[in-house]
Amino acid sequence: MQHLSIVTASLDIANLPSICLRQKAQDVPDEIFPETLRSIIEGMVFSLYSAGGVGLAAPQVGIGWRLFLAMERDPNASPMVLINPKFVDMSEEIEEGREGCLSLPGYFSTKVPRSKVVKVEALNQVLEPVQFEVHDFLARVFQHEYDHLDGILYTDRLKSLEDLEATRSAEERARETIEHLYARPETTPQPDM
Ligand code: NI
Repeated sequence: MQHLSIVTASLDIANLPSICLRQKAQDVPDEIFPETLRSIIEGMVFSLYSAGGVGLAAPQVGIGWRLFLAMERDPNASPMVLINPKFVDMSEEIEEGREGCLSLPGYFSTKVPRSKVVKVEALNQVLEPVQFEVHDFLARVFQHEYDHLDGILYTDRLKSLEDLEATRSAEERARETIEHLYARPETTPQPDM
């Protein structure tokens, strides 16, 4: 019998109202074929890079497993792979910050409350146990992605949906690009997760 190749290229990112975004994902089973796991991770990494994001959870590509990618906001950073993650500690200090989501294109909020520091235990891409303590931006990405594993979106964390903002239209972006060519200092837009 031939092995089934699950992923051959980039995985499509699901948008709401896709049901997989609202379901609780299951642990990645111990007995998973290494090549199946590798193939899923490669597909997700490809999708993450294609979308220019900083995080991607398996349910966002229609896979109901507890697995996500997360990376720093640095073009040279490579994504960390976290499988069956558990937060073993979260700081009580909460900070509101900006988040957008690849599954909710066109929106963002600057008022998403998150712990400033989280400690997480997980398995890496070859199913070895790993531990991280992450701060600030990366802690935010971890919490955003972890929420995806429980079917939670950042919009659920807002006090009010009035805290949700629309991203700039293509026209506005084009106008800004032209303005940048002349005067303004460069600003980097924050990527989605
Ligand atoms: Ni997201």
